[in-house]
Amino acid sequence: MRLQRSDLDSLPRRQRAAFINCLSGYKSANLVGTVSRDGQPNLAIVSSVVHLGANPPLLAFINRPPSVDRHTLEYLTDTGYFTLNHVHAGMVEAAHQTSARYPRDVSEFDAVGLTAEFGAVHPAPYVAESRLKIGLQVRDIKPIELNGTVMVIGEIVEIVLPDQALAEDGYVDLSQLDTVTIGGLDGYYRVEPMFRLSYAKPDCSPEKL
Ligand SMILES: Cc1cc2nc3c(=O)[nH]c(=O)nc-3n(C[C@H](O)[C@H](O)[C@H](O)COP(=O)(O)O)c2cc1C
Repeated sequence: MRLQRSDLDSLPRRQRAAFINCLSGYKSANLVGTVSRDGQPNLAIVSSVVHLGANPPLLAFINRPPSVDRHTLEYLTDTGYFTLNHVHAGMVEAAHQTSARYPRDVSEFDAVGLTAEFGAVHPAPYVAESRLKIGLQVRDIKPIELNGTVMVIGEIVEIVLPDQALAEDGYVDLSQLDTVTIGGLDGYYRVEPMFRLSYAKPDCSPEKL
């Protein structure tokens, strides 16, 4: 099969969204934790987190167009903080359910059976059940004019993970944490590790570490 732009344009809306959402490959599975100004916790699954750079330590995600009530975007804008919480295999159903459109006064934590955990460094809630949690300060919110989405850029202020998950060289074995990955809009995958490879140089082949 070979599809051109005109073929995409003729697909029904939902089918087109499902298809295009698969094309960027396996995506990270994170829950974004925020809290409103008056203390209402909020949680939403996202698959668009990307690494922007290590120094300063920056992560970003894409938030859908703020044309309707978007609690995550509103709360992280108001408080200046959010968390990213890796989703592991034992919490996939609950994590997926956070994407339901709950009313403002309902905490997704309570609605899906996950636990809000607050730390001392920033006001945003972590997901207690998650095994790798990141606290971030909002550094920029960039509108993407092409489609009305926004890129939320955060600087890492705290990381919470089990001691044994962090190797001496800085590597985190995500499969040890059972962190899952996402395909499309609703496909969840467990990951089977292959190997790590040495730093690539032009004059030699990579070696397995
Ligand atoms: C697998 C999956 C991935 C998603 N990824 C994103 C995403 O990257 N960005 C986004 O804005 N919404 C994403 N969503 C939708 C949000 O979870 C959903 O719109 C949620 O209700 C937003 O909550 P809010 O009202 O607190 O903003 C995703 C949903 C699912 C099921």
